[in-house]
Amino acid sequence: MKISNIDFGNNLFLAPMAGVSDIGFREQCVKFGADVTVSEMLSARAMLHNPAKTELMTISSPLEKIKVGQIFGHESDVMAKAVSNPLLAHYDIIDINMGCPAPKIVKNGEGSALMKNLPLAREIIESVVKATDRPVSVKFRLGFDKDISCEFGKMCEESGASFVTLHARTTSQGYSGRADYEAIAKLKSILKIPVIANGDIVDQKSYQHALSTGADGVMIGRGAQGRPWIFSEILGKELSDIDKFKVISEHVATLRKHYEESWLALYLRKHFLWYTLGERGGSEKRLQLATSPSVDESLRILAEIFNGK
Ligand SMILES: Cc1cc2nc3c(=O)[nH]c(=O)nc-3n(C[C@H](O)[C@H](O)[C@H](O)COP(=O)(O)O)c2cc1C
Repeated sequence: MKISNIDFGNNLFLAPMAGVSDIGFREQCVKFGADVTVSEMLSARAMLHNPAKTELMTISSPLEKIKVGQIFGHESDVMAKAVSNPLLAHYDIIDINMGCPAPKIVKNGEGSALMKNLPLAREIIESVVKATDRPVSVKFRLGFDKDISCEFGKMCEESGASFVTLHARTTSQGYSGRADYEAIAKLKSILKIPVIANGDIVDQKSYQHALSTGADGVMIGRGAQGRPWIFSEILGKELSDIDKFKVISEHVATLRKHYEESWLALYLRKHFLWYTLGERGGSEKRLQLATSPSVDESLRILAEIFNGK
């Protein structure tokens, strides 16, 4: 896939994941083959009134290849202003979040609530497209409680979006059920702009299944948690020699450049638990990781788990 002068390589996207896809994690995903990395969702309004709050969320790594900044909001003028905020200047692409199901977002008429308000969604996309020379994409779900993805996708295309990403579930479904790849195929068949398939891609089989929809690329979220090497895996690369402890150490080292140690001690627990999921003999040590008071202590436990592997 190519848009303007951006070549998307193998068309592999790491999904935006608030509270998960930090700079250290994104770096590891890129090292294992992710072509595109998306920021955690950024509030357009917060950027306008309190940029300091957003600053840490917008730091990028020189290792990242194609960087996408994802914004959310419900006011077209605020969204358009956000795009020219210096904090977003380094992003190659601006993505608009129209798929978030979190109640606190939906109740403000943002995220996937916009799938119930097509005129406003259209106004927002048009305003953002007008405010930047960069490609603008839209990430959305099938619909709020029923599948309107074709109608919504068409509206995105008409409004000037350069591509769309479909997480093939409704908002009401949350994360239950299976992503509907037939809906992705249908959307792909009616749009001229590229479509990125998202939802439940966790291995080579599901990757091939997602590609069989005709989608131009795939986006992986939860399948990369604790397994940033999934991008190599789905490309069929040999994985036996991955040094997991090295991956974790590098992830931590990058975060330590930017975040306070006490915050990291708590924040990293979930990543450590994902990294060690299914490690033989690790269950007792995983319990220790879940309550570890410091990053150093966690690294000591992790060294024991991965010792000799
Ligand atoms: C912890 C978490 C945080 C997420 N945060 C965002 C976000 O900030 N913006 C967004 O568009 N989607 C977000 N999502 C949705 C994912 O990008 C993706 O659409 C969804 O997880 C389905 O893909 P998957 O099956 O590969 O995980 C989040 C998902 C998870 C699990």
